[in-house]
Amino acid sequence: AQKWVLMVTAQTPTNIAVIKYWGKRDETLILPINDSISVTLDPAHLCTTTTVSVSPSFEKDRMWLNGKEISLSGARYQTCLREIRSRATDVEDEKKGIKIGKKDWEKLHVHIASHNNFPTAAGLASSAAGFACLVFSLAKLMNVKEDQGKLSAIARQGSGSACRSLFGGFVKWKMGKEEDGSDSIAVQLADEKHWDELVIVIAVVSSRQKETSSTSGMLESVETSMLIKHRAKEVVPKRIIQMEEAIKDRDFPSFARLACADSNQFHAVCLDTCPPIFYMNDTSHRIISYVEKWNRSEGTPQVAYTFDAGPNAVLIARNRKVAAQLLQRLLFYFPPQSDCDFNSYLLGDRSILQD
Ligand code: PMV
Repeated sequence: AQKWVLMVTAQTPTNIAVIKYWGKRDETLILPINDSISVTLDPAHLCTTTTVSVSPSFEKDRMWLNGKEISLSGARYQTCLREIRSRATDVEDEKKGIKIGKKDWEKLHVHIASHNNFPTAAGLASSAAGFACLVFSLAKLMNVKEDQGKLSAIARQGSGSACRSLFGGFVKWKMGKEEDGSDSIAVQLADEKHWDELVIVIAVVSSRQKETSSTSGMLESVETSMLIKHRAKEVVPKRIIQMEEAIKDRDFPSFARLACADSNQFHAVCLDTCPPIFYMNDTSHRIISYVEKWNRSEGTPQVAYTFDAGPNAVLIARNRKVAAQLLQRLLFYFPPQSDCDFNSYLLGDRSILQD
């Protein structure tokens, strides 16, 4: 039997939305009801590292997450694998004497080993980095010739927010118009160097896993909330234009105002859902009040906050000096024994590494 193994390793950071994606118009293709904008973190901090390998001796597709085997039978994994396989091209490694033809990929199996450098249960977006890395590494292994935008449309079908992790810096996920989702892709608005004074501080308020998954939460919001319709139609389209402008001009006051308002509206939609969904807790609310007071006392915003489907605060400081002050003050108001943990992160200086 042939003994060779071919391997590719990639790293993909997570991303944090500043204009939120919440609600799908197509559940299977994962098509959103509005555009969203995010920042991608530096892969040195919150990222997934994935090694994919192929060998004629592998009997089936298998995957390990943080060392534990997980099932690949879910529709989202199957879609990503199928979409990448169908675009595979010839691969040749002369040194190893390996030649894989386009058609061979249909019969060959892959092994996927994925690792998060942050606790998966910490309630921090891990599926975004995970699916982006899976799609990117498989595409490299199978010599898929599509550009990042096309790959983002595949990652989107693993987890919506994953499409934005294929780029560094500031990224927009365009909702698109097509029924097949071909134009629902991520595009880079500005690279990681464009606004690198910003520092992201993440306050891990609770490491408990969220009670309502984003998938079921979104579905319930779309079915029952009136506010979500107004948000998608009237509010987000305007905010997207303003946020793009703020990012282009490095206009922190506008950036902060929009990011905070959008996070608050997303959580208002959750409250407007029947039954209501509570992602934030008392500590989250205290952090919001604290940042609001600070910003008001300075006369101009110094820190922006945003919360995803959980109680953890993502705080964006306008520069390193403010970030240092922020960390100091947070530790004073929320001492270590208060069940709060803080870490600061820089924006990505590269989006993806590849061995
Ligand atoms: O991609 P999902 O299903 O994990 O949903 C992400 C939803 C939010 O994180 C709350 C918002 C966003 O745009 O990332």
